Amino acid sequence: MKKTAIKTIGILTAGGDCPGLNVVIRAVAKVAINDYGIKVIGFEDGYDGLVRNRFITLSNKDVSGILTLGGTILGTSNIADPYRYPVQKGSKFVIKDLSAQAIANYKANGLDALIVIGGDGTLSIASKLMKDGLDIVAVPKTIDNDLAETEYTFGFESAVVTATEALDKLHTTAQSHHRVMILEVMGRYAGWIALYAGVAGGGDVILIPEIPYDLKKVCDKLHERRHHGKRFSIVVIAEGAKPKGGKMTVSRVIEKSPDKIRLGGVGYQLMDAIEKQTGIESRATILGHVQRGGTPTPFDRILATRFGYEAINLVLRKKFGRMVALKGEGVTDVSIAKAIGKLKRVPPNHLLIKSAKAIGVTFGN
Ligand code: F6P
Repeated sequence: MKKTAIKTIGILTAGGDCPGLNVVIRAVAKVAINDYGIKVIGFEDGYDGLVRNRFITLSNKDVSGILTLGGTILGTSNIADPYRYPVQKGSKFVIKDLSAQAIANYKANGLDALIVIGGDGTLSIASKLMKDGLDIVAVPKTIDNDLAETEYTFGFESAVVTATEALDKLHTTAQSHHRVMILEVMGRYAGWIALYAGVAGGGDVILIPEIPYDLKKVCDKLHERRHHGKRFSIVVIAEGAKPKGGKMTVSRVIEKSPDKIRLGGVGYQLMDAIEKQTGIESRATILGHVQRGGTPTPFDRILATRFGYEAINLVLRKKFGRMVALKGEGVTDVSIAKAIGKLKRVPPNHLLIKSAKAIGVTFGN
């Protein structure tokens, strides 16, 4: 066993799940337990476990055989926030600040550090907990790839692969029926999944939140394809895309959730608008949570392993308040404070947009 002053650490996965979470848990726990004899406490369901003191003490056996497993063995929540925790009162709920309880649990378990794996919301909570005295290291994850200060988050590539496979399948039926097939993908306020899957899956039109679209330009493209003998078209639309001068399409409002808005349904609106404007038969598919499930791709397994390894090393070096990040080929670390509160959205002059436009893809602008 190697020597360290770190005796016990906690780990949790919070926010929406994505492929690769288990890979990080596995890397952290294997190094901590096998190399240093550190006790690793896995809090269940994100910050809910920290507030309620629900955890499992991870053994080597618990983290064995989970490399290919999607989701998270610890469970997660994109609702539980210790600073505005929804407490059920009959059919209603009241928001309470239970952060003192979370901090007390951290201390009672004798934690030397907490590793949080999450997106912007999770990291913002981590930043508050740090101000309240907790020693935290963060690992960025999200299928949306919208976290600042890291080139990629794991989970993104797996989601892109799922969306690309869906596009490949939509292509054959679009071709057979001479239809416009629309695929709505996730990504919240960023268009990364739509852009990458759209290019990989041969989308003719790609619509992203960062470039509000002009319906006429979209329909012109569909007409132009017909004129050139292409009787079908593929449109990829991000859930956060909106027409020029219009608003994003909200599918539901979840009052308990720190980010209350859930997007979805813009694909159906676009389908109706295209049919009305062009007379071409259209269908829309909302891919939804399929994008968050399944086994991580090799790229995501590798990135999550590197992130997990770097995270436990930061803990061992007592470099707290840091988030591991991918910069170029290297895994490095940045301050959590710097990474939060600003989303990494697709720059409208992104090189991939330029190349896609050059080969005839329309972005509706
Ligand atoms: O942030 C990940 C994500 O999947 C977004 O792409 C999507 O908008 C949202 O979470 C869906 O959240 P929920 O799982 O609460 O429906």
